[in-house]
Amino acid sequence: MTRINRDVIEEVRTSANIVDVVGSYVALRKRGKNYLGLCPFHSEKEPSFTVSNEKQIFHCFGCGASGSVFDFVMRTRNLTFAEAVSELANRFGIPLPQEKETAQAKKIREMAERLRQINGMAAEYFSRNLLRSSGEIARKYLQTRGIGEETIQDFQLGYAPKSWDGLKRFLTREKVDLKVAVQAGMLVPKSGGDSYDRFRNRLMFPIKDMRGRTVGFGGRALDDSMPKYLNSPETLIFHKGRTLYGLATAREACRRNNETLVVEGYFDLLALYNRSIHQVVAPLGTALTLHHVRMLSRLAPQAVLVFDGDDAGMQAALRSLEFFLREKLPVRFLPLPEGMDPDDFINKEGKEPFMQLLSEAKPLMEVFLEQSLSNYDGSVEGRLKVVRAVTPMLRLVDSPVAQEGYLRVLDRRLGVSEEALRAELALTSIRRPSAAASHKREQKPGLPEWEEGIIRILVNYPQWIPTLEENSALESFQNKDWAEVGRLLVKYYQEGGKLNLSGLLMDVQNEQIRNLISSWSLETSPWREEDAHARLREYFAGISSSRRRLQDDLKRLKEKIQAAERSRDEKLMAELLAELQAKKAALLAGEVNDEANLSKGEMV
Ligand code: UTP
Ligand code: MN
Repeated sequence: MTRINRDVIEEVRTSANIVDVVGSYVALRKRGKNYLGLCPFHSEKEPSFTVSNEKQIFHCFGCGASGSVFDFVMRTRNLTFAEAVSELANRFGIPLPQEKETAQAKKIREMAERLRQINGMAAEYFSRNLLRSSGEIARKYLQTRGIGEETIQDFQLGYAPKSWDGLKRFLTREKVDLKVAVQAGMLVPKSGGDSYDRFRNRLMFPIKDMRGRTVGFGGRALDDSMPKYLNSPETLIFHKGRTLYGLATAREACRRNNETLVVEGYFDLLALYNRSIHQVVAPLGTALTLHHVRMLSRLAPQAVLVFDGDDAGMQAALRSLEFFLREKLPVRFLPLPEGMDPDDFINKEGKEPFMQLLSEAKPLMEVFLEQSLSNYDGSVEGRLKVVRAVTPMLRLVDSPVAQEGYLRVLDRRLGVSEEALRAELALTSIRRPSAAASHKREQKPGLPEWEEGIIRILVNYPQWIPTLEENSALESFQNKDWAEVGRLLVKYYQEGGKLNLSGLLMDVQNEQIRNLISSWSLETSPWREEDAHARLREYFAGISSSRRRLQDDLKRLKEKIQAAERSRDEKLMAELLAELQAKKAALLAGEVNDEANLSKGEMV
């Protein structure tokens, strides 16, 4: 994606008034200083979607959606950031300086364009063939599987005729370079430079990107040829790990329903769609990837995995749990009866029982705990095994409340105290400082609340932002996200002498934090100015005393370790070193501050 210069972004931001942009999409009423309307991101009857002209942000007090004018356009139109900027630039007549495209980039872009064009032509060809007499076998098949006319059209289903060169001849007539058709995956090369149709006598499913452009195909065999499903090979524009079937048809419905269903197969998706359940996508015969989960989090704020009711289905779901936790996307699991896939179930039982099961779907994390506990044999080793199996996932649980809930379940079922479990959680973080954990800022329970408190006050009283620096408070922030927010506050204040909220929100990566900040900025401050100022001073005083305390602690520990070293008391040494480790672990996400402090050399 081309990078857009910051000045241009600023210019677009100042020209594209958020009230106008949102107002052309949502009916807004003025209420006090702000504007109010029905949230476009979740369904509501009472308006809680707030737009601030003064602050140039939106915030929904119902679902927590929030952000700048760019976020609004990205979310409503499903665009990337760069696309949203250029969309608004166009709308407000701001010329975008075209970044010079390298010759290489141009070649790639043009090739991608051609591959999409060939895929699109093939989709039309297959879809026409479905209506011809030769396509009868596929039409009949769709009928036996209960797929209606509308669904056929919406997905542009088609038929690849039983021929080695049907598509090839069509593409030749259309003057398509056959070598490029090979690169598009539509033809298979033979030795000697010739080629033949990849898909023969198959029911064809065009796979489309978010914008509805065909990027590849799945084809189901209509006889007993193998494989049952044949997919396009990976090409410049088609990557199975980055594509989901049904994106284009699901987009709107996911937003309306606040939820995306994930099924495993093409026919599962069609069967649900066919019964007006449109908020469904499916991976293409591969396991869900982190990238898939990211795509899901752009579609709707929650997901439900609707997988086969066998052990393999459950295992597949559990393998994706980590990605959902990392992306902080709430996910539930709908277990179908043994041996049934969603297509079987809805055709046999009907829509109502399906909706019933959907409403009963449990959080995948709960399913995971149950599954891990089901292997528990009552022995001490068994207990340790369960604990070791679940802690890596528990560590990724974002909400302290949820985490505590899960710890309680384990406490009850295993008879391991919450305290011991917490110690185990801290241990895994020392034992395995995974690469992912070090750049994915996790919030640990027990973080001082002052970090949040300080930011909340500064958002309401930006004139005190400079005190952050005066008190060197940021250095003591333990949560990297809040420290980042603090640095941004300082930066924008230094640049413009005020709080640039929409700029700030754009820079903050963590969505939860973004939402908190925007809701604070719209609240009438819970404190009067004097009270807020007094509280801020208390926070700063607290920071310096806790910093002192920590330094004292570590200094004492260091002296003890040296003494133990002199007296060669290895047992004591080991204990003290363990204590040091524990302090490091307690000291947050153990990453920034303690490492920095320890390496200053004055301790250990
Ligand atoms: P299944 O084998 O579970 O088939 O494959 P299904 O979806 O129930 O298909 P029907 O009902 O027999 O028509 C699930 C998904 O796995 C991928 C496809 O995406 C399929 O929809 N798959 C399966 C392949 O890619 N290749 C195969 O050979 C089989
Ligand atoms: Mn099936």
